Amino acid sequence: MTTIKEVAKLAGVSVATVSRALNNSGYVSEEARKKVESAVKELNFYPNEVARSLYQKKSKLIGLLLPDIANPFFPLIAKGVEDGVNQRGYSLLLGNVEDDLEKEKDYLKIFAQNNIAGVISAVQGDIKDLQNMPFVLLDRVESDQNFSVHSDDYTGGMMAAEAIVSRDPKEIVIMVGPKEVPSSAVRLAGNQKVLKDHQLDYQIFQTSSFKLELAEQTAEQFFDTYPNVDSVIASNDVYAMAVMKEALKRGHRIPEDVQIIGYDDMPFSRMMYPGLATIAQPAYEIGYRGAKLLCDILEKGFVEVSRIQLPVTLKIRESVRKKDEHE
Ligand code: RIB
Repeated sequence: MTTIKEVAKLAGVSVATVSRALNNSGYVSEEARKKVESAVKELNFYPNEVARSLYQKKSKLIGLLLPDIANPFFPLIAKGVEDGVNQRGYSLLLGNVEDDLEKEKDYLKIFAQNNIAGVISAVQGDIKDLQNMPFVLLDRVESDQNFSVHSDDYTGGMMAAEAIVSRDPKEIVIMVGPKEVPSSAVRLAGNQKVLKDHQLDYQIFQTSSFKLELAEQTAEQFFDTYPNVDSVIASNDVYAMAVMKEALKRGHRIPEDVQIIGYDDMPFSRMMYPGLATIAQPAYEIGYRGAKLLCDILEKGFVEVSRIQLPVTLKIRESVRKKDEHE
């Protein structure tokens, strides 16, 4: 197989010049470029991507780790990341970790074998495995973590509680997301701040997962635990939808008997009826800005802003009661 050294010898230029010419990276004189193109054609040289990456000590691949692509939140993140890296000439290798840390380690090995340029991870947990490569964290990040993009969970928690407080709640239950996900505690703190300010009592139901396949059984346990609930602040839209289904199965009217607000604003939340009131996270934008941040790190070696927090918005729909006749 023809090598880059043979091309350089025939063209009468350095290997670095051939590499710059092939990758359009850095200055190459018109004369040198023509010599390289002629040598490439004569030697029928098609740079092997892995060989190119080994020579350059980086590939044009970026690894993306997601906790669970079955949850509709994460494909939106992935689309944002894909568009962001593609615009900068990179391709994506996706690792669906499914909350399995062994799977995460396996994917990191695969990424390393493919000589990836960097990693973008939405998987919560210890980042020591990422330390030996450029990385950016998304969504499930501690508030003080650098090279991260997430949305404002505290304000989101406050907004969700305000939406319930202003709609005549009687028995409030907060369905809290899994403890290992940093945003769960932050959203809860926002909920509790508002409920305390309004001197309202509430109960807490701790969930152990955001997994879609556990949502329905969790909703059954929820109503078995709190049969008199009339206002639910749910941990995410998938679990809010399961709560809506279980409430209807038990003969409750929505929102008259049980009002519910979710978190994320997935496409189905506005398509179903009654529509799910929720807190909209900019999932696509989180992915896109994370891709931009990593590419800036790779290409410039520095970034002005290394920790990005994006705003969330309240979406009022039929799953909560009307605040007054004007709404
Ligand atoms: O629905 C999945 C949840 O986990 C979302 O709230 C998102 O923030 C992710 O962390």
